[in-house]
Amino acid sequence: MELKRKILMLALVIIANTTFAYGPIGHRTIAKIAEYYLTDTAKEQIIELLDGDGIVIVSTYADEIKSDKTYDYTQMWHYVNAKDGESYEHSQKNPDGDLISAINKCVEILKDAKSSKEEKAFRLKMLVHFIGDLHQPLHTGRAEDMGGNTIKVKWFKKSTNLHRVWDSDMLDSKKMSYTEIAETMKRPPYINIDEVAKGNVISWYNESKELSYVVYNSVKPNENLSYGYNYKYYPLMKERINYAGIRLAKVLNEIFK
Ligand code: ADE
Ligand code: ZN
Ligand code: ZN
Repeated sequence: MELKRKILMLALVIIANTTFAYGPIGHRTIAKIAEYYLTDTAKEQIIELLDGDGIVIVSTYADEIKSDKTYDYTQMWHYVNAKDGESYEHSQKNPDGDLISAINKCVEILKDAKSSKEEKAFRLKMLVHFIGDLHQPLHTGRAEDMGGNTIKVKWFKKSTNLHRVWDSDMLDSKKMSYTEIAETMKRPPYINIDEVAKGNVISWYNESKELSYVVYNSVKPNENLSYGYNYKYYPLMKERINYAGIRLAKVLNEIFK
């Protein structure tokens, strides 16, 4: 009995650890970048809605509430698992929602003058997080490997999985704060903000889905990833984070006009 309980606990810990989205550094960096591009009026309205907090602090809220059973209904909002090569539109949808339907719902509620302040604040925190998740290619990955969570690899000899490499291992190993990482991002005129901000949730999803194939093909099972992998893929990681920040600002500026 005792052993069974221990095994169950261990399984729960493993499951809890595998479902984290971009780690805190990824989400905070994305929110920090978005702050560069927010309009003054958006900034003011957001601060008021969040009772003085900014989007950096609330960017990890959607992961923090996962340990509270009350919020179990939000678990599947962090990812979308359409089959490879299939459009989101034609894919079999999760009736409990997914990353794309969750983002659309957040935007709808935030734009609705009839929504309460409490509901808007909740949806804003979720939205800040989900635009980040949308840019992690494996959050648009395959159902059968849980977006790479069951693909075991090593990161500098330490056991991990492909999903976690892209959520946090690669970023954490830089040993930089979210503000420092944000400062390393390309800014105008070295990046065309209008060009990056083009499109919508579906076109950004399609981009991530295409990149999920690149990420899936980047490793062999049980491979030990180290400097070579970082050298090859960190530029893509940085680009995803930069794009997520720029697009988050676009979405928020559009809501808080
Ligand atoms: N996190 C947990 N399950 C997932 C899945 N099926 N796809 C992507 N990310 C996930
Ligand atoms: Zn998430
Ligand atoms: Zn994740």
